Amino acid sequence: MLAIGCDHGGVSLKKEIIKYLEANSIAYKDFGTYTEESCDYPDIAVKVCDAINSKECDKGVLICGTGIGISMAANKIHGIRAALCHDYFSAKYTRLHNDSNIIAFGARVIGPGLAIELLDIFLNTEFEGGRHQVRVDKMMALENK
Ligand code: RB5
Repeated sequence: MLAIGCDHGGVSLKKEIIKYLEANSIAYKDFGTYTEESCDYPDIAVKVCDAINSKECDKGVLICGTGIGISMAANKIHGIRAALCHDYFSAKYTRLHNDSNIIAFGARVIGPGLAIELLDIFLNTEFEGGRHQVRVDKMMALENK
C-alpha cells in the first residue's frame, strides 16, 4: 500500500499521480490535503510517515511546492528516509543505495509526466543491501544522536 500526501502546493500533482496509480491498479491511501486552501506541510508529512511506521503502508509519496519542506519534515521522524527526487538517476539510486521509503516531489519544480516516471522507477527498484545496508544502519543510528 502506497501512502500519498501533499500540502496545498501539491494538490494538482497529487491528483495526476492518483490517476496513474488507479490506472495501474496500485493500491494507495490519500492522506490529504484535498483542497488548495493553505495548510502546513509538516502536518501532512506526519500522517504519511505514521502510516509507514505502523506498516499500514510500505512506501510513500510527499508533495509540496518545492518538495523541500515536506521532505525535511519527514526526515525528522524516526524510521523515515525521504528522498527529494527530480531526476531519474536519483530516484533509482536512492532505492538501490539508501533504501528510501518516501519519494518527495516539488509540484512547482517538475510536471506530472516526469513525476510519474520517477515514481515508477522508485516503486520498481529494490534496495541492493550489502555495503549499503551498513551505511543505512549507520545513518539510522544518527536518529539517537
Ligand atoms: C507553501 O507555499 C510552500 O512553502 C510549501 O509548499 C513548500 O514549498 C515548502 O517547502
